[in-house]
Amino acid sequence: MANDASAVSDAISRDPDALADPFTPPADSSLWRKNFLLGAATASYQIEGAVDEDGRLPSIWDTFSATPGKVLAGDTGAVACDHYHRWEADVDMLASLGLEGYRLSIAWPRVMDAAGVPNRKGLDFYKRLLNRLKEKGITTSVTLYHWDLPQHLEDRGGWLNRDTAYRFADYADLMSRELAGTVDAWATLNEPWCSAYLGYGNGHHAPGLADGRFATQAMHHLLLAHGLAVPVLRANDPASQKGIVANIGRGTANSDSAADQRAAHLFEVQHNAWILDPLFKGAYPQDLFELWPGTEPLVLDGDMQTISAPLDFLGINYYFRTNVASDGAHGFRDVPLEGVERTQMGWEVYPDGLRDVLTGFKRTYHNLPPIYITENGMASDDKVIDGRVDDTQRISFLKRHLAAVDQAIKAGVDIRGYFLWSLMDNFEWAFGYERRFGVVHVDYSTQKRTVKRSAELVAKFLKERKARV
Ligand code: FCB
Repeated sequence: MANDASAVSDAISRDPDALADPFTPPADSSLWRKNFLLGAATASYQIEGAVDEDGRLPSIWDTFSATPGKVLAGDTGAVACDHYHRWEADVDMLASLGLEGYRLSIAWPRVMDAAGVPNRKGLDFYKRLLNRLKEKGITTSVTLYHWDLPQHLEDRGGWLNRDTAYRFADYADLMSRELAGTVDAWATLNEPWCSAYLGYGNGHHAPGLADGRFATQAMHHLLLAHGLAVPVLRANDPASQKGIVANIGRGTANSDSAADQRAAHLFEVQHNAWILDPLFKGAYPQDLFELWPGTEPLVLDGDMQTISAPLDFLGINYYFRTNVASDGAHGFRDVPLEGVERTQMGWEVYPDGLRDVLTGFKRTYHNLPPIYITENGMASDDKVIDGRVDDTQRISFLKRHLAAVDQAIKAGVDIRGYFLWSLMDNFEWAFGYERRFGVVHVDYSTQKRTVKRSAELVAKFLKERKARV
């Protein structure tokens, strides 16, 4: 496993300019286009805190993180980055970095009660936040569901209950009526794969259930929720863009054998086609049920048409690749590679995977809408030393992934923007506060924010780009 220093020296030997400025893209990069949006992302449960203030109800993540053994060190989102109280300073920080876009999510349990009655105090928080972002000229991308399902809905079956999809459409209706005009892009769901598979398939995430049939049924209801919400968003807020955000896995085969090639294909079916085929082909991939026999979800007439309605954008979240081999039966098994660069999460740094999935999707889905990279970034064990955070591995990571985006654009993929994950260190789900993904460091004992070197260099680039005629 490479350490930070050798990762950086590797990057420098690949890119001699890195010594002078380890971030700024080369002159021929599409990133210099002024209409290529460069922003940062966060999510409600990971940053807001204030979990029982102003009428917010419990979410499945409050319940899950309070359950012993579910989250590293017993961390919860109860305080997180205290963004609910510090949002004005956080917006100022975003603006001072020159970031042009901000992707945030709304906490469903903050804005609606179990009877569907709006919670004015919760709604006002998002109104103030979005209005301020617009005043600062920041493009707003709002995700309706980044995993914090109201606990009262989970108590009635959560995403295993078809009714949750209809409740989601009601929630989308309320939010788009209330917030129309302040949102540039609406994403219905963040990473339905994680909600369905990690939440209901293997139990690593809230609500912590583990059954393959649950995963496929939860996925169907999540996608149905998305499909029901899109026309509602279109009716209430016609000027905005509507889309969905999917996490994408790159699977590579451990050998040239047909069995390993098939394993890599199945890996990508399970991670990507499971979501993208229903959205863009109107059908689940049959290979999925070869991998997981007997898990076909209950699908009612008309569902697939609802799910596959045209979108204005697709958000892609990309982090790493997985090297796989055949498991000797119908599936795949991970074969971690030795001697590759990894992050604090243990995830392999593999920028080519981002380029390859993007160009692959363009070939596979003929009706693919424009793409935004809605998350990309890495965790490192960052420390503040003399008031500074030198996150050298992240700088190199970002540069190489942005180069991969540029390559995909040059290969003809319509990519309109890129959001760093994340604006600041935050509650990293089952890993709690130990894993630091921010371009801004957060000291959780004082809530002090310290801009890391990566953010300074992104800001420098954005300033230079803006100054160009
Ligand atoms: C993604 C999530 C995001 C964050 C990153 C590291 O799966 O959407 O909230 O935790 O991973």
